[in-house]
Amino acid sequence: LSHIDRSRPKVVVTRNLGPDVMPLFKQRSDIELLVWPEQSKCDPKWLLNNIPGASALLVMVTDKAPGPNLRIVSTMSVGYEHISVPELSKRGIKLGYTPDVLSDAVADLSVMLALMAGRNIRETMAVVNEGKESLTFQALWPAYPWAPYLFCGPQLSASAASPRRTVGFLGFGRISQATLARLIPFGITDCVYSSSPSSKPTLERDTALQQRYNLHSLKRVDLDELAKQSDVLFVLAPGGEATYHLVNEEFLRKMKKTSVLVNTSRGSLVDSDALAKALREQWIWGAGIDVVEGEPQITDDHPLVKEPRCSILPHIGSGTLETRVGMATLAVKNILACLNGEALPASLDL
Ligand code: DGY
Repeated sequence: LSHIDRSRPKVVVTRNLGPDVMPLFKQRSDIELLVWPEQSKCDPKWLLNNIPGASALLVMVTDKAPGPNLRIVSTMSVGYEHISVPELSKRGIKLGYTPDVLSDAVADLSVMLALMAGRNIRETMAVVNEGKESLTFQALWPAYPWAPYLFCGPQLSASAASPRRTVGFLGFGRISQATLARLIPFGITDCVYSSSPSSKPTLERDTALQQRYNLHSLKRVDLDELAKQSDVLFVLAPGGEATYHLVNEEFLRKMKKTSVLVNTSRGSLVDSDALAKALREQWIWGAGIDVVEGEPQITDDHPLVKEPRCSILPHIGSGTLETRVGMATLAVKNILACLNGEALPASLDL
């Protein structure tokens, strides 16, 4: 490694972050910048070949890489289960990530999926769109003339028939709270959530939230109660071993028949086979998921893709133009701060 020019730290970036963000690096002549040249996922071989001697590495959720000289790994994501935290900690490497900047975008999409799941949007859009290129298109919609109860589903907002609406959160961090804020105008009256058993008591915060939103109740409950009470359940906890398949057959069997499940965090929290069974056998009404275990290797024979009451998106929770530029900018700023010897704007305590 004697050839490394230590006065010009090498920074390896696994995607072109676009014209709004790349100049932050390019205007720095004191760094050696190496960027994966394609729009596609960075080839792991390219990464392995280029990482030796790198001081900083900017990765996406899809990348994994070690490196002998690293000072920082900066991930353009709030989740960091793709990174070996104990390894970084052992080697004194800093970890930068991108919390907060994506909370609003993911909360927006979570509400959209709740509406889609309750109002049968996958099925009903298919009535209009399916077979578009074929002759069946002409026949499909006319086959379903408007009828009083056709395609009806449970209403997200409170109504005379259902004045109390309980929203549940598996995980109650920034994105869950941003989602709750969006649901208040829907007349949500009660909120239950479950958090990691190791998380600190939050009575003061919960009382303040309950008062701010004028809720009948806001309380932390165990998984059993979370499943039983939620009309809409948002899965919004980090991935990893501790949360693996928390939503399993036992959990889903306890949910209300009219409830909907939304997952905008990580696919690993939900057992896909159990969810497919719950939808098929109508233990719950519907599901809206932005993440699936094993993504992106999800094909049309996947059990969830076969379920008409499951609306699936390809992990686009944070995918707004504004948010992605915000995430990329923060990921770059984390690297530049580290190379300047300054505190990172958003780092994890390892
Ligand atoms: C994250 O930031 O962890 C998201 O899942 C990527 O959009």
